[in-house]
Amino acid sequence: MTRLLFVCLGNICRSPAGENTMRHLLRERGLKGISLDSAGTAGWHRGKGPDPRMSATLKDRGIAVSGKARQFVASDFDDFDLILAMDEENRAEILKLARDDTQRAKVRPFMSFCVRHDLSEVPDPYYGGKDGFELVADIMWDGCEGILRKLAQPK
Ligand code: 4NP
Repeated sequence: MTRLLFVCLGNICRSPAGENTMRHLLRERGLKGISLDSAGTAGWHRGKGPDPRMSATLKDRGIAVSGKARQFVASDFDDFDLILAMDEENRAEILKLARDDTQRAKVRPFMSFCVRHDLSEVPDPYYGGKDGFELVADIMWDGCEGILRKLAQPK
């Protein structure tokens, strides 16, 4: 079992988009052996569902949306194999809780798995308009496909 954790700031826009897009791809392709969750480096939205603007964007693409926000915790390093940081600030916050190099090595920028988007970070859509949510949804599809290609490679 490969355990993936998607992490952004609030866990209501980017990381649930990643988790739900990946769940959609796993179902569509009949892939097994990958478990998914998401978290935010901040706990402000704890217990809330994904932002309605993010959910609407995903649902328009036929992607089912579920999940409740939670904060990233140090024990996530034990519970997950790959921790996907949406931006550099998220990555720095996650790394503050890492105990050793094994834990640090689990943290990767989500954008590093994208092939169709040449950005270093997933732009935070929270204070912007619809275009930002559409871009996040596009990026999530690109990066999730990249992650699946990577996981399918022989080690
Ligand atoms: P996310 O977006 O990190 O992609 O979930 C945000 C959600 C909430 C806030 C900022 C970004 N906020 O400031 O409450």
